[in-house]
Amino acid sequence: MRRLTLLLAALAALSCTGSPRQETMADLRARVIERARVQTVYMDSLLTDGRCPRTFQGDSLVTTDIGWWCSGFYPGVLWQVYEATEDTLFRDLAVKHTLPLAGLLERNTDHDIGFQLMSSFGKMARHLPSDDPSCHSERSEGISPKTVLTRGAGILAARLDPAVGVIRSWNGNQWNYPVIIDNMMNLELLMEYGDRAVAERHALTTAANHFREDGTTWHLVDYADDGSVLGKQTVQGYADDSAWARGQAWALYGYAMMAREERKIGNEDLAKTFYEVSAKLEGWILPRLPEDGVPYWDFSQTDCRDASAGAIIACGLLQLWEFRGRTPDDPALAMAERILRTLASPEYLVEPRTHGGFLLKHSVGSLPGHSEVDVPLTYADYYFLEALSLFPVSVTPLKVN
Ligand code: GLY
Repeated sequence: MRRLTLLLAALAALSCTGSPRQETMADLRARVIERARVQTVYMDSLLTDGRCPRTFQGDSLVTTDIGWWCSGFYPGVLWQVYEATEDTLFRDLAVKHTLPLAGLLERNTDHDIGFQLMSSFGKMARHLPSDDPSCHSERSEGISPKTVLTRGAGILAARLDPAVGVIRSWNGNQWNYPVIIDNMMNLELLMEYGDRAVAERHALTTAANHFREDGTTWHLVDYADDGSVLGKQTVQGYADDSAWARGQAWALYGYAMMAREERKIGNEDLAKTFYEVSAKLEGWILPRLPEDGVPYWDFSQTDCRDASAGAIIACGLLQLWEFRGRTPDDPALAMAERILRTLASPEYLVEPRTHGGFLLKHSVGSLPGHSEVDVPLTYADYYFLEALSLFPVSVTPLKVN
């Protein structure tokens, strides 16, 4: 009887053409969320108080303190598992790992305060009302998530020098006034909790100065005090004139996010302006992605994949698909599906209770800096789960040719 059941199950898994039936996106998402449940709890068991995960290298979990630009992503992953499962275990873990980040308000931060706070407190503000007692622990010094976000947005907005017209990215004096394309992602904090005019000014100045004729972006633009451009270059890409994959991903998603936010407040003109920056870049990226959708770390290279760039590109494509009206035959949707299927395959998805509790293998932090090459990274996991939550699982099966 058991044999017969197994045989029937095997036959059911074959389509009438005799090939195995493709996993639905709903099943794929459920499988990944189940893996994320196991991995996030495992990671929590490995972390000592006050430490944040950074990567997994040489059989060890590498940790950092809250100052590292990625400190919000693990709490953000926990919030996403809570959103998907409604299991309060993950809400409690998310609160535990979110609250220490309130300490950033007392530190000398940079533009990444947007990443750090939106992925952690941004999600907490949505899930726990400000008067919930768990928002008022000693570790957040009694201030509510919304207060943390508003104060963080003020710190970010103060980084825009009106004479230059953009938010300064990094501190230090290697450059006069460095602005990296990644900064576009930090604007979400201002659009939701701060001065939108500052975010818009930054996005318009960046659109004017950061992009090449073909729609791709430089990594870093250095400005003079009067706002004129001193230089354009890469730091984490292969060459100044190449297309660093994660930089393209931040630009794609950053401008799609700005288009979404402008539409939300009824500003269709600016929404269109920002949409067009993202869509032009999308037109460059789509035909240049490898067959399985996950880019190499730089579009000029073919040695090392970057799962983080793939996950962020999938998010950006899904935002563009949403902006255009969610049509089922949109190539952006098909490519997002292709990327997600690749990332959910054994080549990228880790086995349970391995890799320090991360979800995805094969990301690249900075190859020229010999740092975090072909390793798990928190933001790959975060944007992978975000793309899965944006993907319309009810519109399955969607075919990718
Ligand atoms: N924002 C830094 C990076 O993408 O590596």
